[in-house]
Amino acid sequence: MAILVTGGTGYIGSHTVVDLLNNGYDVAIVDNLCNSKLEVLNRIYKITSKTPRFYQVDCTNEEAMREVFKKEKITDIIHFAGLKSVGESVKYPELYQFNNVGSSKILLKLMNEFDVKNLVFSSSATVYGIPDHVPLTEDDPVGGCTNPYGQTKLDIEFLLKDYAEQHKEANIAILRYFNPIGAHKSGLIGEDPQGIPNNLMPYVTQVAVHKLNHLNIWGDDYPTIDGTGVRDYIHVLDLASGHLAALRKLSEKPGLVIYNLGTGKGTSVLELVHAFEKANNITIPYVIGPRRDGDVAENYADVSKAEREMGWKAIFNVEDACRDSWNWQSHNPCGYDE
Ligand code: NAD
Ligand code: UD1
Repeated sequence: MAILVTGGTGYIGSHTVVDLLNNGYDVAIVDNLCNSKLEVLNRIYKITSKTPRFYQVDCTNEEAMREVFKKEKITDIIHFAGLKSVGESVKYPELYQFNNVGSSKILLKLMNEFDVKNLVFSSSATVYGIPDHVPLTEDDPVGGCTNPYGQTKLDIEFLLKDYAEQHKEANIAILRYFNPIGAHKSGLIGEDPQGIPNNLMPYVTQVAVHKLNHLNIWGDDYPTIDGTGVRDYIHVLDLASGHLAALRKLSEKPGLVIYNLGTGKGTSVLELVHAFEKANNITIPYVIGPRRDGDVAENYADVSKAEREMGWKAIFNVEDACRDSWNWQSHNPCGYDE
């Protein structure tokens, strides 16, 4: 009786796999390693003393995926696998459609074929497009995605809704993540972006480790507390536990459910930088630059539905995440490439 975790060697996947193993779940990972390293499996073993079964398979390869479904007795799937770079998606929109939407179609086909009823899907707050108010609830309108990556998440959400309509026995949890940061307390696993990071926290940690000179803050003239962009930063360990909560929810056979996974609290870029400096006693030099295309002033979640219906809420704060991100980065200055 296995949980199939696609993208399980990636950033959020690896933290979730650790949580699953520590809670006695039997785990099989499928990942093509296009954005992660095999070393992650060694690190997972160091933390949990367990090794999940691993298939180096591309989720867009239907035949290879079918072989995995034949070998494993899958009860639930957590579908993390996907490409996630906003800039790359603007350059290669077809690749993002093929990889993200294509792999999800194949998974649904195989779920039907092998009678797997439960699926948890990694969606994103990006599906809310440019919000006209915060905090965002799950009932707020979706659409108006500012990039092809975001559009793939929305397309997959629609696919899942159609599937759930046609398969009344299916239970699907769409989890809309806000901004994941932080790392495992051991410092053994964490976020390992390729090239120069686009996201704020990995950029800050690479400045701290002197791989980058200074942080560029994209805009300080937003109508926010200090003019810089406000986001809902959620510790990756809280995000991981949100997946276990979703699996428990699916066991109640709820049909299709949607939850925001965030903290419900907005933090500005400058607040995050100062929290990092205070937590780690490190100065982060920064330069104020122009606004970044596609950015919104404020984005944070109303998280009351996840708490009400799944009994889940985030327990770590931004300071905890700053400490843990630095613990990971300082012990692994080159990520998994030591
Ligand atoms: P990640 O890149 O670290 O992990 C994704 C994993 O999927 C990688 O290990 C990659 O090798 C694998 N993968 C990609 N395409 C594949 C394919 N066709 N077949 C097999 N494996 C494949 O990313 P992450 O940050 O852990 O994100 C996980 C999921 O959460 C993604 O779907 C992402 O879009 C979504 N998400 C992430 C964020 C974020 O800020 N990190 C926010 C919202 C949603
Ligand atoms: C970005 C993507 C979003 C994606 C998410 C997770 C854009 C427009 N949005 O969200 O679609 O789902 O990442 O991958 O790319 N910032 C700086 N300097 C930096 C980096 C970021 O000032 O070097 C600021 C941004 O302007 C923003 C905040 O930090 O105000 C957070 O940025 P980021 O980590 O990139 O996340 P999002 O913009 O929320």
